[in-house]
Amino acid sequence: MRFTMLATYLAIIVTTLVLMCVYIISLLSESLYSAETINMFAKANIISATVSDIWGSDTSATAADKFAGVIENSLAGTNIRGVVTNTSYTVLYDTNAESQLSGKVFMRDVLKRALDGEQAKTITTVENDMRLISVAVPIEIGGSIIGGVYLAESINTIDDTIQSTRTSLIVFSALIIILIGMLSLAMSYIITSPLEKFREVAREISKGDFTKRLAVKGHNEMAQMAETLNYMCDELELLEEKRRNFVSDASHELKTPMAGIKLICDSLVSAENLEPAMVKEFLTDMSDEVDRLTRIVERLLVLTRMDAGDTSLKAEETDIRMLINQVVKKLTPIATSKDIVIYTDYHDKEFDPILLDYDKMYEAIYNIADNAIKYSPEGGFVHIDVTSDSNYLTIKFEDNGPGIPESERDRIFERFYRLDDSRARDTGGTGLGLSITKEAVSMHGGTITVTNASEVGSIFTIRLPYKVRKGGRA
Ligand SMILES: Nc1ncnc2c1ncn2[C@@H]1O[C@H](COP(=O)(O)OP(=O)(O)OP(=O)(O)O)[C@@H](O)[C@H]1O
Ligand SMILES: [Mg+2]
Repeated sequence: MRFTMLATYLAIIVTTLVLMCVYIISLLSESLYSAETINMFAKANIISATVSDIWGSDTSATAADKFAGVIENSLAGTNIRGVVTNTSYTVLYDTNAESQLSGKVFMRDVLKRALDGEQAKTITTVENDMRLISVAVPIEIGGSIIGGVYLAESINTIDDTIQSTRTSLIVFSALIIILIGMLSLAMSYIITSPLEKFREVAREISKGDFTKRLAVKGHNEMAQMAETLNYMCDELELLEEKRRNFVSDASHELKTPMAGIKLICDSLVSAENLEPAMVKEFLTDMSDEVDRLTRIVERLLVLTRMDAGDTSLKAEETDIRMLINQVVKKLTPIATSKDIVIYTDYHDKEFDPILLDYDKMYEAIYNIADNAIKYSPEGGFVHIDVTSDSNYLTIKFEDNGPGIPESERDRIFERFYRLDDSRARDTGGTGLGLSITKEAVSMHGGTITVTNASEVGSIFTIRLPYKVRKGGRA
């Protein structure tokens, strides 16, 4: 990551600098060469005009004598070589006397083009890598060409200027690259070092250690990510603690009936001359304990399946009156045995069918009604009241049992939680009924709450939405 960032930065900078240098150098050479060409054309045209003026004058003087002053004057202070020829390319004057070209033929491409009437220029390389810029213009009298002016100058000085500019640019660019490279390295370190810490913490999490936390500095994106990771660790730690508690609670709950069975078995083994009636009594107790074990295991299975999320809702249009009536029918024998009356109040109303997973909601309602009967005294009542509006269906269960202290109202929905542990266990309670109910109601997007009745007893309220949001849970 660090290397990629650094490489990307540097690639961008190097490309930008190279393009910039190429552009500057080409712009510079272009302007230097064209300035020089313009300058030479200006001089050549002045010489051409002046030579044209004096071409036919003073016939006694040689051409060289006539033109020398004009040409030398025009080119004074420069390194430009000037040659004047006639139309047969014969040199009339050459500022480079050493060449001894005077009177000889001087053929150059630019000169040929000038004698054809063109303002010609060219750049050539001569011996020793010397580069020359040459221009040639025609000399005209009365519209007809009578000769040509040829000027040439070494452009090595211009090339030297360009070369030294190029060197400076390269050095400058190299310095910028080094500087930016160092800055990028520092920047990438600043950016990636928290990521390193993230990785360390994530590795610890994957090993199962959820106690690690990241230091949160500032409010930038990194700090926000650190906060999110810390939050995730908090949640995982909580979940892990819940899981541990669940396993230890489950083992504890399973141990009790198993200890009972073991005790009965030991008594059977050690007892001598047992009456058949006694054996039957022992075995009945044992059967009760096995029933209890089965009940715990079944409820645990329901819960773990709900936890694993592999229980999708098999929602179907349900008549809530029919569902509640079936629960009541099932529980009536138990209620009657305790002399408890179950009332249902539908307010003479037909309810719109509601989308429910029948089995899960049956189980949820059964658990609440079962509790109401189980925890109410003999001769009591259970009142089931159903109302609805356009959005929600509300089912209230009121009993005249001991009620639930305010401090315990959230806890009773926790797994294995019982108010009066030993008494509840004696009644056969696993402490899982309300957890399953809450889970089932949540899966339908509903809520369950508990309050105390005005005088005695408790009221459990289930509220179910007619339209369940996608994903089910509220
Ligand atoms: N109507 C009620 N009145 C008083 N206490 C209640 C009532 N309903 C539940 N409780 C308390 O809440 C605890 C949890 O109830 P829950 O239904 O989860 O477990 P349980 O009834 O003990 O076991 P199970 O439902 O498996 O038979 C109960 O042990 C009981 O103490
Ligand atoms: Mg219960």
